[in-house]
Amino acid sequence: MKRIGVLVSGGGTNLQALIDAQKDGSLKSGRIELVLSNKVDAFALHRAQLARIPTAIVTKEQYPEKEAFEQTILARLKEYRIDLVVLAGFMSVLSPEFVAHYPRAMINIHPSLIPSFCGEGFYGLRVHRAAIERGVKVSGATVHYVNEIVDGGEIIAQKALAVRKGETPESLQRRVLENCEWAILPRAVEKVCREMESGQTEEDG
Ligand code: GAR
Repeated sequence: MKRIGVLVSGGGTNLQALIDAQKDGSLKSGRIELVLSNKVDAFALHRAQLARIPTAIVTKEQYPEKEAFEQTILARLKEYRIDLVVLAGFMSVLSPEFVAHYPRAMINIHPSLIPSFCGEGFYGLRVHRAAIERGVKVSGATVHYVNEIVDGGEIIAQKALAVRKGETPESLQRRVLENCEWAILPRAVEKVCREMESGQTEEDG
C-alpha cells in the first residue's frame, strides 16, 4: 500500500474524487496520508478534515524564500513517509531540485490536452480562456509525471471532450472537471501506485 500525499491550493474537487475513489475501493493500492495546502483558506483542507486525513499548511507568506518554502514542504512529505505526491490543483511551480526527490513518484493533473495550453502561466481558468480564444473544438485533461519541465513529464492518461458553441471559460472548466479530471485522476493514481508496488512500469511488461 503506497502512501499518497496530495498537494492542493483551492477547491479540491480533484482531491474529493480521490477520497471518493478510496471510499468506493477503486483506489486500493494507495492511501491518502496527507493533504498539504499552500493556501490557508483552501476549501480542499475542509474536505480532507471531513475525511479525517491529516492536513498541513505551508505558505509563501510564512516562507517568502522559495528554498525555505520547498524545504518545509519536503520535510512534511518525509514526516508522513509519502511515496507518491499528487499535485491536484497545486498552484505553485516546484523547482527542479524539489522534483528530483520524487522521480516517477510525483504526478500532476492539468486541465488541457498536453501539449496544448500548458507550461508556465497556464493554470486554472487561464487554460480554458486560451483554449476558447484559439477556437479549439476539442479540449480535455491530462495526468502526467512531473519532471523538471513545467507540464513536460511523461503522459499517463488523457481524456478529451468536445467544446460547445458559446462556451465560456467557466463552463468549459466545469465540464472538463466533471467529465475528464474526476474520471482520469483516480484511475491514474491507482495505476501508478500499482506499478510502484510491483516495481514495474508498463514498458517493462
Ligand atoms: C483543476 O482544474 C486542475 O486541473 C487545475 O486546477 C484546478 C483545481 O481544481 N490545475 C492546474 O491548472 C495546474 N496547472 P480543484 O481544486 O477543484 O481540484
